[in-house]
Amino acid sequence: MQRSFVFFLVALGSWAFEKGFAEEHFVRIWPENPVVQFGGSLEINCSASIEADAIGLETAFRREIIGTGSNWKLFRLTNISDWNTNSLCYAKDSGAKTAKATITVYNFAKAPLLHTGLFLEAGTLMKVTCDAPEVSPADEATFDLWFAGKPLTFITTVMGGLASAQAEIASSSVGDHELICTVSLGPVTRTVKKTVNVFALPKPILQIGSSEAVVGQKVNITCGVEGSASPGFKMQILDAAKTLASSNVNEHFLQHAMIAQQEDNEREFICQVTLTIDGQAKERSVSKKLTVFYGPQMDDSSCPQIWTWKEGSTTTLTCSALGNPTATVQCWKDGRLYKIGKPQLIQIEHDGIYQCNATNQYGFDVRDVTIYVEPSQSIGHIIGYIVAVVAFIALVAGVVYWISYKQKIGIYRLWQQGKQQQSPQNSMEQRFLNKNATV
Ligand SMILES: *[C@@H]1O[C@H](CO)[C@@H](O)[C@H](O)[C@H]1NC(C)=O
Ligand SMILES: *[C@@H]1O[C@H](CO)[C@@H](O)[C@H](O)[C@H]1NC(C)=O
Ligand SMILES: *[C@@H]1O[C@H](CO)[C@@H](O)[C@H](O)[C@H]1NC(C)=O
Repeated sequence: MQRSFVFFLVALGSWAFEKGFAEEHFVRIWPENPVVQFGGSLEINCSASIEADAIGLETAFRREIIGTGSNWKLFRLTNISDWNTNSLCYAKDSGAKTAKATITVYNFAKAPLLHTGLFLEAGTLMKVTCDAPEVSPADEATFDLWFAGKPLTFITTVMGGLASAQAEIASSSVGDHELICTVSLGPVTRTVKKTVNVFALPKPILQIGSSEAVVGQKVNITCGVEGSASPGFKMQILDAAKTLASSNVNEHFLQHAMIAQQEDNEREFICQVTLTIDGQAKERSVSKKLTVFYGPQMDDSSCPQIWTWKEGSTTTLTCSALGNPTATVQCWKDGRLYKIGKPQLIQIEHDGIYQCNATNQYGFDVRDVTIYVEPSQSIGHIIGYIVAVVAFIALVAGVVYWISYKQKIGIYRLWQQGKQQQSPQNSMEQRFLNKNATV
């Protein structure tokens, strides 16, 4: 019991001694995270709480001691060629922990590449990429991107040995701006710059003097611009077919005057701004339609003047007119309105001359329309029938007469035969017959 208690005290004492010893002994390394160019050299200072003789450095690289103090040793490591390796400072027999330094070896990288368009329309976004090829270790590379004097936010990606940063650039200020990408690895930085031209097409504004005009009225078409503009822009006034007016370079106002004609109704006018950027024509345009009002007009195609219809047929009279607004057309005959545009059963009474009147608030146009109605039985047919009937009756009468004549001849011959054979006592009858024959 007593022996074991003594043993416990001894064990406790030795633990406390060792612990206290370990705490007052230490090892330090400096620098802790050195970055070294591939194949280069590095100085490492190991210091400790004990004499320098006991200080050592564990490393994979060739080393030499280049300085010693009372409690430190300075080592030079040469021909450093392994990526991410650890080196350890230690103090022999002190019980102190070792101190570790992680050496990052970088390769000299090629100059970064900046991928960007050289022209950017003001107010639009453009993607840019800065690539750091063959930078090693790629994930240690850090980027810094600036455009037009302002830092950009970007995302970096590492794929294989390629580190790259992607950002979007935008500017509302017209002119040349610098895009800068800096790639850093350890103490080495490489920078690449490109000039991006921010251009702006001004906003075209089209005004049609009076977007609604009456035929013959003067109409002014003006093309103007607003907003920031890159120098060198031009304006044009166009319609679907041709250019009506062109401005000089950098002019801000263009006008085209015209007299409104019937065919200008619904005509579209375009105000266009053009700027040539890098040999490419960029354009912005705006368009408007002109409304021209005019009185009704009827012609042979809209309102044919002669119609020939058959009695009993179903036909539609069509008569319309050009005009804006659309004209109302009415056709009259003998003070009565005829339903145009609707199928009608044609009767003889429809025959005649109609007066058609097309009207809108800008005037009217009048046109005579003649309708001929052919009777279903024409006079020619009726005469034909009468002639045929008369001829038939005459034929029948002729036949009847001929038959009755033939019969009379037959009776007479019989009578003649009979007379020659008769006796004289029939003299009374014969006298009568003789008398009749002589009559
Ligand atoms: C090494 O480190 C120790 C302790 O920090 C310091 O006193 C000494 O000056 C250093 N030696 C060199 C050469 O930097
Ligand atoms: C059209 O423009 C001319 C010249 O700018 C102006 O004198 C005229 O009064 C304008 N006419 C109309 C109808 O706006
Ligand atoms: C045609 O109609 C218009 C408008 O209703 C009227 O003023 C004009 O006298 C008419 N013309 C004829 C020939 O009926």
